[in-house]
Amino acid sequence: MNERDNRPVLITGGCGFIGCNLADRLAERGERVLVLDNLARSGVRENAQWLKSRHGDLITIAVADVRDPIPVIDAVREARAVLHLAAQVAVTDSVSDPAADFEINARGTLNVLEAVRLHNSSAPVVFASTNKVYGRLIEDSEIALTGRRYTPTSALLADGISENAPLDFYSPYGCSKGTADQYVHDYARVYGLQTVVMRMSCIYGPRQFGTEDQGWIAHFLLSAIQSKTLTIYGDGYQVRDALHVSDAAAAWLAVLDRIALARGRVYNLGGGRSNAISLRELIDHITELTGQEITCRFADWRPGDQPWYVTDTRALSAALGWAPQVSITEGLRSLHTWLDSRFGAAQGNREALA
Ligand SMILES: NC(=O)c1ccc[n+]([C@@H]2O[C@H](COP(=O)([O-])OP(=O)(O)OC[C@H]3O[C@@H](n4cnc5c(N)ncnc54)[C@H](O)[C@@H]3O)[C@@H](O)[C@H]2O)c1
Repeated sequence: MNERDNRPVLITGGCGFIGCNLADRLAERGERVLVLDNLARSGVRENAQWLKSRHGDLITIAVADVRDPIPVIDAVREARAVLHLAAQVAVTDSVSDPAADFEINARGTLNVLEAVRLHNSSAPVVFASTNKVYGRLIEDSEIALTGRRYTPTSALLADGISENAPLDFYSPYGCSKGTADQYVHDYARVYGLQTVVMRMSCIYGPRQFGTEDQGWIAHFLLSAIQSKTLTIYGDGYQVRDALHVSDAAAAWLAVLDRIALARGRVYNLGGGRSNAISLRELIDHITELTGQEITCRFADWRPGDQPWYVTDTRALSAALGWAPQVSITEGLRSLHTWLDSRFGAAQGNREALA
């Protein structure tokens, strides 16, 4: 390994759910990782401890904010690549405080890009964008109820949403992430940086501290484990394509490892057709898995909620040979095992004894 290869990969938001799984994968293959995270997300301190306990000196954690350009520059200077995941992640919080959402997601991303452009321009930058940049996508008249899920009536959508779908930022979160998405893409064109945009659908798996506001699969499972009533916004027939975090991490690493091929590209990343599931179907799965019925109440749709979103993953698969490996059933089991060990009755007993 030459000196350059030995520099760490910088992961902003590396204590978060996806970031810490990425850091773990990189460290597992012997790479050094520099995490920059302000620990804003509840629970993520535990992810930091988990990474340090597993990988020791391979992991360095800088507690800093992407809104502050100085620590961002310091971190970018020493990195061989940048995986930018730090973000305000909840649509609901973006609606209640759009200015903070903009500062973190849009301005914070510009800080990362400027640090790379001015101080380390050969470093690849991979950005965590979102399917929310496509907006609502289909009208009510274009969906039909089939069993316990919505399906689009147009055959054109049979393979899911591709990168060619028109952008239609919806919700302040959609706008701030969409702004960042376009800046990251444009920095490849205007400044020749090696950037890639990953527009992700619903990612789930271990180390996800899901809440009602973000991380719905973990939140649903946790509600079952803790016998809490679940609020479903909308009617529960809305469809998402779920992707296990190990598959998401594999896609990110494939992009990083083949940056010469991926640079300048935008990829949609999700579970695809075979991992599409409605909220009601997920609840059925959870009941089967845990043996616990979930009590639900229904509330109005939330701003920007998509009635149907399934990723067309063909661009990523064709470019990098990537495909999801983990089925929903298998993936749910892995998340349930982690959540149960962390929040279940046995953990409660251990905490009570301590
Ligand atoms: N989880 C998903 O399904 C999903 C889907 C689409 C896009 N994304 C994007 O992927 C990224 C990671 O999502 P996640 O699910 O791991 O979320 P997460 O909340 O678990 O991780 C985000 C991390 O960023 C950190 N952070 C927040 N504000 C920061 C700031 N100002 N400065 C530095 N660090 C800050 C948080 O402490 C947290 O550790 C985000 O950019 C999110 O928008 C996630």
